[in-house]
Amino acid sequence: MVRKWFSLWRVRNNKSSLEKVEELYNSLDMGKLPTHIAIIMDGNGRWATRRGLPRAMGHRAGVESLREIVKTCSSLGIGYLTVYAFSTENWKRPAIEVNILMDLLVEYLNKEIEDLHENNVRVRAIGRINELPEKARGALNQAEKRTEDNEGLILNLALNYGGRNEITAAVKQMACDVAVGKLNPDDIDENIISNYLYTAGMPDPDLLIRPSGEQRISNFLLWQAAYSEFWYSPVLWPDFRKEHLLEAVVDYQNRQRRFGGLKSK
Ligand code: FPP
Repeated sequence: MVRKWFSLWRVRNNKSSLEKVEELYNSLDMGKLPTHIAIIMDGNGRWATRRGLPRAMGHRAGVESLREIVKTCSSLGIGYLTVYAFSTENWKRPAIEVNILMDLLVEYLNKEIEDLHENNVRVRAIGRINELPEKARGALNQAEKRTEDNEGLILNLALNYGGRNEITAAVKQMACDVAVGKLNPDDIDENIISNYLYTAGMPDPDLLIRPSGEQRISNFLLWQAAYSEFWYSPVLWPDFRKEHLLEAVVDYQNRQRRFGGLKSK
């Protein structure tokens, strides 16, 4: 009897990834999708180390995950996807790793741009882009230009991005605008501040995903994530697939968002 129950449990829990994806699709409420999803793509290094591979291989595998997640978001009809690809703190890594990340970015953009364009995806870069190496700036510039008229998914690549840095830059710019009479201090409200950020004109992320078991915000979208729903997963980014994204979205759809108010009846 125990054996029978165990094998039944095993059948249920060993569903193929395809079956899981189908089941998750069936439980999605297409009318309640998050408009903006943000992802901290974490765990590339650990993924590689566990396999005895150089860290660079983890980053390369992470690009595959990005490809699949962009495709999934685009086909679901998600409005915005913001991915943390390189933080203002990532410069502290060995120069060789930084260089590999920049090369991967260029390679990703060069390889994917036509596909992204055909799928109506608009690529945007957010962060201190002018401090990136020239090869990265060039590829980003080309990708932004090529896709600027697209009206599907907006893919924000957060590069040399830091939330505190973004807020500091916004405060500085506001101070300058006040000094030259372009901005009245009495008019400054949350909306105005939002409009001084890299994400000006975009809705705040509804859902913030962090794989790899870490449960930190790590200086990502500090202002914008004020009311985001957080979803953590132990899966490392290079193993993160469509089924994990769908799991996060289904979980998000079952949450009560109150924005500081009371539960609606
Ligand atoms: C964090 O994992 C990941 C990064 C710092 C880089 C993310 C980059 C990619 C997914 C690929 C390149 C991006 C583009 C846009 C093509 P980690 O290295 O900190 O992992 P660890 O915590 O396991 O060491």
